Amino acid sequence: MYSERVLSGMRPTGPLHLGHYHGVLKNWLSLQSEFECLFFVADWHALTTHYDNPEIVSNNVWEMVIDWLAAGVDPSQATLFVQSRVPEHAELHLLLSMATPLGWLERVPSFKDQQEKITDKDLSTYGFLGYPLLQSADILIYRADKVPVGEDQVPHVELTREIARRFNHLFGREDNFEKKAEEASKKLGGKRSKLILQLRQNFNEKGDTSSLERAKAILQDSQNLTMDDRELLFGFLEGAKRLILVEPQPLLTKNSKLPGLDGQKMSKSYGNAIKMREDVDSVVLKLKKMPTDPARVRRNDPGSPERCPVWPLHKIYSNPSSLSWVREGCTSASIGCLECKTPLIDLVTDEQKKFKENAKPYEEDLGVVKNIISDGCERARELAKQTMRDVRESMGLDYS
Ligand code: TRP
Ligand code: SF4
Repeated sequence: MYSERVLSGMRPTGPLHLGHYHGVLKNWLSLQSEFECLFFVADWHALTTHYDNPEIVSNNVWEMVIDWLAAGVDPSQATLFVQSRVPEHAELHLLLSMATPLGWLERVPSFKDQQEKITDKDLSTYGFLGYPLLQSADILIYRADKVPVGEDQVPHVELTREIARRFNHLFGREDNFEKKAEEASKKLGGKRSKLILQLRQNFNEKGDTSSLERAKAILQDSQNLTMDDRELLFGFLEGAKRLILVEPQPLLTKNSKLPGLDGQKMSKSYGNAIKMREDVDSVVLKLKKMPTDPARVRRNDPGSPERCPVWPLHKIYSNPSSLSWVREGCTSASIGCLECKTPLIDLVTDEQKKFKENAKPYEEDLGVVKNIISDGCERARELAKQTMRDVRESMGLDYS
């Protein structure tokens, strides 16, 4: 019934680095050519932890979109938008909050973890507790069935599935659902309408799936049904409640194999990152200073790539023949570390040159970026409005 739709968001809290590129963005690039994709700037999410420095968020919104575009995210394939410009997310979040048990949120692992880890801010706020539910609203409002996330975010998608199930259970039953369905079936004409009811009974009472298939085929072929009627009758046939919200699946993004300059995970807060559009001199310096296998104290000491933080970078950037040159040269001490890093430095800076070239037209005219986002917001909002109509109706909020 629903087309395959991918949704993902990113917090605008700083310039993106090579870890984002090799971990998340390259994945987005392959998804955008395969599925309908929606990618958004999660500015409200950023405020759940940066409410005391909102300028960090506003200063990074456009820059982050430029990083996406520089990486090759294509606005003619994917819909790019900003969360706060689609206020329906907030409405859905509010409505979902009515029926969300507190315990479900308190049990989300990131809640306790982050509260313990982030000690320089007071995170015992309502917004912080509710942030996984806001994420559920982000996903459910587009009826997205695929959510590319890292391992740490999988529990949030799991929560979203539970929220959707609970919503459909509580609100998916319309009092007059059967009556509406019977009304709709009359449009098929007396004979076919009777047949449909008969087939439905065969399926519901005897589990006869061929009756179900036959009935579905009849509905599929009927010219005088609207799409809504047809959808209603499909739900009616299966004797099920209406599925207002769709349960999404996580698409696990493997951890970026690109570590930071110190061998730990690349992260702005560890100070071991290389920004996507970093100044070339600064990148060269950082890579030259990067630590290597501690066993290679002197130039003549043989080393082992497995113990060297430079090696995983080579594995991402270098071709097989230069990888064997590194392994051979390192273990036999026939090359020095700087020599080993030189081709890598070229590859990294070439890649960055490409990012900078791609970014240039957007940096020079922010209006282009803003237009891309305006278009995306409009498209996203259309989809969000459709879901909200159904949500309001199913909760009895359609009196006006
Ligand atoms: N919570 C995600 C993060 O912190 C960002 C995010 C917000 C998101 N809403 C989303 C990701 C919906 C996927 C789907 O990284
Ligand atoms: Fe690392 Fe290369 Fe030096 Fe070996 S030669 S320790 S792989 S930088």
